[in-house]
Amino acid sequence: MFSISEKSILSSRLLSFLIAFSMFLLISSSLSLIEFEENSFVPKSVLQLIPNLVSNASVNNQIPNAIIVDAQESPVKSPVFPNETLNNTISVDEPEEKHLTRKCDKTKAHLKVYMHDLPPKFHFGLLGWNAPANQTWPSLTDRVKLPSYPGGLNLQHSTEYWLTLDLLSSSNKDIVRPCTAIRVENSSEADVIFVPFFSSLSYNRFSKHRQNRKGSGDKVLQEELVNFLVKTKEWKRSRGKDHLIVAHHPNSMLIARRKLGSCMFVLSDFGRYSSRIANLKKDVIAPYKHMVRSIAADNSPLFDERPILAYFQGAIYRKDGGAIRHELYYLLKNEKDVHFTFGSAHQSTGVREAGKGMAHSKFCLNIAGDTPSSNRLFDAIATHCVPVIISDEIELPFEDVLDYSEFCVFVRAKDAVRKGHLLNILRGIKNERWSRMWEKLKEISGRFEYEFPSRENDAVDMIWQTVSRKNVSTRLSVHRKNRYTRSQFRLRM
Ligand SMILES: *[C@@H]1O[C@H](CO)[C@@H](O)[C@H](O)[C@H]1NC(C)=O
Ligand SMILES: *[C@@H]1O[C@H](CO)[C@@H](O)[C@H](O)[C@H]1NC(C)=O
Ligand SMILES: *[C@@H]1O[C@H](CO)[C@@H](O)[C@H](O)[C@H]1NC(C)=O
Ligand SMILES: *[C@@H]1O[C@H](CO)[C@@H](O)[C@H](O)[C@H]1NC(C)=O
Ligand SMILES: *[C@@H]1O[C@H](CO)[C@@H](O)[C@H](O)[C@H]1NC(C)=O
Ligand SMILES: *[C@@H]1O[C@H](CO)[C@@H](O)[C@H](O)[C@H]1NC(C)=O
Repeated sequence: MFSISEKSILSSRLLSFLIAFSMFLLISSSLSLIEFEENSFVPKSVLQLIPNLVSNASVNNQIPNAIIVDAQESPVKSPVFPNETLNNTISVDEPEEKHLTRKCDKTKAHLKVYMHDLPPKFHFGLLGWNAPANQTWPSLTDRVKLPSYPGGLNLQHSTEYWLTLDLLSSSNKDIVRPCTAIRVENSSEADVIFVPFFSSLSYNRFSKHRQNRKGSGDKVLQEELVNFLVKTKEWKRSRGKDHLIVAHHPNSMLIARRKLGSCMFVLSDFGRYSSRIANLKKDVIAPYKHMVRSIAADNSPLFDERPILAYFQGAIYRKDGGAIRHELYYLLKNEKDVHFTFGSAHQSTGVREAGKGMAHSKFCLNIAGDTPSSNRLFDAIATHCVPVIISDEIELPFEDVLDYSEFCVFVRAKDAVRKGHLLNILRGIKNERWSRMWEKLKEISGRFEYEFPSRENDAVDMIWQTVSRKNVSTRLSVHRKNRYTRSQFRLRM
């Protein structure tokens, strides 16, 4: 039997619970109103300054669809054989074998990762892999038979492929790799839940075929993914906060990301995201896979062996931030020691030419295109050509452990277009200072190499390290959110 006072305590608790719950509904419905902010071409800083602007739906409706669809240079579809894909990634640094062990001890791994066994159509099926019945993942024992990622421009966003292969290989005793991340079978033990959807490839493959059916294949896959994920106990447990989703192509996951925005994304930049859906606190910036061949440290041309002062080859843009390319072109086109041409560097022979050009240039320009980032930065690093970054909104991979000012020159866009300014800066950097940056480039270029099997401090390993550093802040926010929901759960019991 309850006493009177116990009853009234119970009912007042019930009442306060109801109040809290309706407050929650009110807040979450008003938050969903500002969700569309993401595609906006209005600079993010402006939106942050004027929160009210965000809730005006017309901001979103002004965005021409075409810009989003064909914004990236269209993919070239030449196949890359596994032997080439894997060989393409020779690291310049020798691996430090002493840190590698055959058996990776689960208790020593920085990051325990549970990977959803999504059906093959979400990952290796997109590579044309015909999964044998009852088999979700390809076997890693015969590397030549491994499904390879399509070549050309597709490859620059292949992060999804390398991370998935690396997790698969973490349970293969014959593969030697760093022990940063390890796959666990029991999701309760995991720090992170990895979602193996090859979203960039799905965009490159399927997004263009949209007219005939109810939606593109890419859209259908994204919707199926959302339906699957939000029902899992792993998602419900953390509301997605400990999930890792790779969306490296700026146009990938455009549909699903609104519903999965609480997760950690692996992205190339935040150019097409609102700061609510993607931000540095929870997300990971990953490098593009470079297109040109990397040069070995002891083959790298010196200052005097690089006759070209500044190198740029790229597409003409057209929209938004890309206008600066035109302005720079007119400023630089008559300089004898500047290579500045428009045109895709990535058609077969073009890549080899670009690689050679960059390796014989002191500085390589990275000018904002229609997205703040591009693979040009990583091509420059691979050829030890000191990057000059003219892209105010760029996000840089692993910047919490790398100080890019040690090996890059940053010039604000508004300064770069002042007559003579850029050339003055570059000509002012003499052999000694340039060589310090070049030494640093040689030291860190291995951090941008995607490899299979992965090696210590290569791109794959660096991504896992970054994720494990996020773990701390993610867990903190999961636990803070649990404060009241968990207490109320106990109260009802
Ligand atoms: C929303 O946008 C419309 C059209 O651009 C404008 O007329 C209206 O004043 C805006 N509302 C607010 C609250 O800014
Ligand atoms: C890679 O493998 C494919 C098919 O097995 C073969 O045709 C190609 O010549 C190989 N490439 C190299 C560079 O060995
Ligand atoms: C792989 O790279 C090595 C070192 O550059 C080279 O000698 C070898 O021929 C390459 N193999 C293929 C298949 O491209
Ligand atoms: C990640 O968070 C979990 C839970 O708090 C913790 O047990 C684990 O040690 C953390 N991992 C790292 C690398 O900090
Ligand atoms: C797949 O596995 C299930 C359960 O183990 C089995 O009943 C089924 O026959 C298998 N299907 C094939 C095609 O092997
Ligand atoms: C998974 O791990 C949790 C926590 O360590 C444990 O309670 C549970 O029994 C495990 N489940 C399985 C199927 O091993």
